[in-house]
Amino acid sequence: MLSKEMLAGLNDQIGKEMHSAYLYMAMSARSADLGLEGFARWFMIQYHEEMFHGMKIYKYIQDRGGEVVLKDIPAPEGDFPSVREMFEKTLAHEKTVTRSILDLLARAKAEKDAATEIFLAWYVTEQVEEEKTASDILRRFAYMGPGENPGCLFLDRAMGERKLEAPTDFSELVI
Ligand code: FEO
Repeated sequence: MLSKEMLAGLNDQIGKEMHSAYLYMAMSARSADLGLEGFARWFMIQYHEEMFHGMKIYKYIQDRGGEVVLKDIPAPEGDFPSVREMFEKTLAHEKTVTRSILDLLARAKAEKDAATEIFLAWYVTEQVEEEKTASDILRRFAYMGPGENPGCLFLDRAMGERKLEAPTDFSELVI
């Protein structure tokens, strides 16, 4: 059984993953407004990934006999003037998510909650990937310099090739 503190932390993390989804949905919308359909697709796929991250915790809480308690999801902050700035924001945001996962992991270790520790290991690996992806994309922007527009169109094509890998039907996750 999950401790009260662990359960609260996991429920909070569902909200943080949903907030991430909301943030990337906003970035997708803004990319579309800028006429960058490839980036819009990339961010919408990221939205689905985050929904999956949240629902995986939802399922885990239920598997452990805990109660899912949903909280408010804050609106995405910022107005995203360019896709480069969206990725700067993405990297900063993912670092805060990593911190949050590591805090949960520290709690699981302290409580000798091996099941939650093993469960969270998936998120630790996922966060390495999320931070690396955002950093790699920012490195590509760095090659463009200040007049980034032509390079941005080239990158937009590449971003549009991203394939959705996360499940989007969560009905099977429900007990
Ligand atoms: Fe679910 Fe991007 O952290």
